[in-house]
Amino acid sequence: MDPASRISLRTGNEMPLFGLGTWQLTKDTAETIAAAIALGYPMIDTSGDYGTQPGIGEGIRRAGAKRSDFYLVTKVEETDDAFAATKKDLDELGLDYADLMLIHRPPRSGAGEALWEGLIRAREEGLTRDIGVSNYPTGLIDALVQKTGEVPVVNQIEWSPFGHSMAVKAHADENQMVIQAYSPLTRARRLDDDTLEAIGKNHGKSPAQVLIRWNLQHGTVPLPKANQREHLEEDVAVFDFALGEEEMARLDDLNSHYSALGKLPYV
Ligand SMILES: NC(=O)c1ccc[n+]([C@@H]2O[C@H](COP(=O)([O-])OP(=O)(O)OC[C@H]3O[C@@H](n4cnc5c(N)ncnc54)[C@H](OP(=O)(O)O)[C@@H]3O)[C@@H](O)[C@H]2O)c1
Repeated sequence: MDPASRISLRTGNEMPLFGLGTWQLTKDTAETIAAAIALGYPMIDTSGDYGTQPGIGEGIRRAGAKRSDFYLVTKVEETDDAFAATKKDLDELGLDYADLMLIHRPPRSGAGEALWEGLIRAREEGLTRDIGVSNYPTGLIDALVQKTGEVPVVNQIEWSPFGHSMAVKAHADENQMVIQAYSPLTRARRLDDDTLEAIGKNHGKSPAQVLIRWNLQHGTVPLPKANQREHLEEDVAVFDFALGEEEMARLDDLNSHYSALGKLPYV
């Protein structure tokens, strides 16, 4: 496993194992994106409502990256016309296509079939390679699949040792869906946890690196966000150590369905 490693999706396309989150990436977005690409971050996660699109586009150009050098994930809002929103998003990014378009969250009622049909059309017209969902509980994923026959390749949800669900992971595995882990660092709120610190010390690594590594070893795809250069460097330096079985079990045991955002969308 290294930063360039990829996993196969149900559709046959490949996706990197981890990426950079960009919500509130406010400290010169373009410079941070260019630095992240130079450091080997293979994937960037954004959304139509983050306001980071122009900076991401500029950062990619500054890095001189070829389109095939990075994987771009973005999202449409639940109130959007999904096809039109995809085009707008790509315009703002200055890109011809996304690698993965997600429904940001389920609509107030129903499973979001109209949104899903819009994303299917976007994929058919070459605006995105793959499509998926975010913040979906398993019941709504089942409803979406039942109504449309199309299984999302990814569900992007809040996921950390402090808040996760092995039942949700099992459902994802059964459906050949990958879980992308958002707020994998608990928005820095639980980094002073004793277990994280003790396990980090065993490997000369920080609590943040332990959290990222825990995801990688479970096959869930972490999207840590970092404004600060030292954080950006630290969060990618997670491919030179491995957590032991007992350490992984101790981290699993930290689960209390904790959410840095308020409530896990799937519990
Ligand atoms: N689909 C959704 O509904 C949804 C919801 C939330 C988030 N997301 C995605 O997931 C990404 C990550 O989640 P998040 O931004 O909520 O939180 P996060 O990645 O868990 O935490 C980010 C915080 O951790 C700090 N940090 C980063 N690396 C660190 C390190 N090595 N040591 C100490 N602190 C460190 C950052 O500080 P600095 O910034 O100061 O460096 C920032 O304060 C988002 O940016 C977004 O792309 C998606």
